[in-house]
Amino acid sequence: MLVTINDLLTPDELAAARQLLAKATWVSGAATAGAQAAQAKNNQQLPEDAAELPALRQLVLQALNRSPVFFAAALPLKVLPPFFNRYSGQSNAYGFHTDSAMRLAPDGSGGYVRADISATLFLSDPDDYDGGELTIEDTFGTHSVKLPAGSLVLYPSSSIHAVTPVTRGQRQACFMFLQSMVADPGKRRLLYDMDMALLQLRQDIGEADAVIRLTGTYHNLLRRWAQT
Ligand code: NI
Repeated sequence: MLVTINDLLTPDELAAARQLLAKATWVSGAATAGAQAAQAKNNQQLPEDAAELPALRQLVLQALNRSPVFFAAALPLKVLPPFFNRYSGQSNAYGFHTDSAMRLAPDGSGGYVRADISATLFLSDPDDYDGGELTIEDTFGTHSVKLPAGSLVLYPSSSIHAVTPVTRGQRQACFMFLQSMVADPGKRRLLYDMDMALLQLRQDIGEADAVIRLTGTYHNLLRRWAQT
């Protein structure tokens, strides 16, 4: 399931993020990729010791936390600290790859976080660069995603995906991985569809008895399927 969230960042947040990124020093992106992905990866990334990184991460996590659609679609259990990347010049593409299933937890415990969902938050205006489409293969075919700055796409970490070469300008983005309370993408999709339909029903007919009962069923399915 691909879910896009338009305008996740406010214009002020987007401007603040860009200002921070303009000051940053970029390094090769290969460091955070698994062995297979590293061979396909040719972009740049903010290093873990970048002075701008804590403020950037806080800005993005804050925006995620206030988005009800993000919660409904991802059912997030653990969101790993976001990364920031840039495609331009000779470092301009990321060939087809799959994201690692397990990523080291950032708390220093030595434990792992399972990557169920990957997310890309676009930070450059699409008119400012050519290419740079996020191409995602799923069971319904291949999708090409290039969103307005400040908008986010969620997609299964299990998918094969790529970023096509940027042939003009630069594409800056934030990307992240998260573990969902509901590991199975099929169950997650059922819950998301039901939640969205209930939202619509509530708008259309209010808190009718059947809406209350169906809402109860949604939460009972979540209780049954979620792991915390
Ligand atoms: Ni990836």
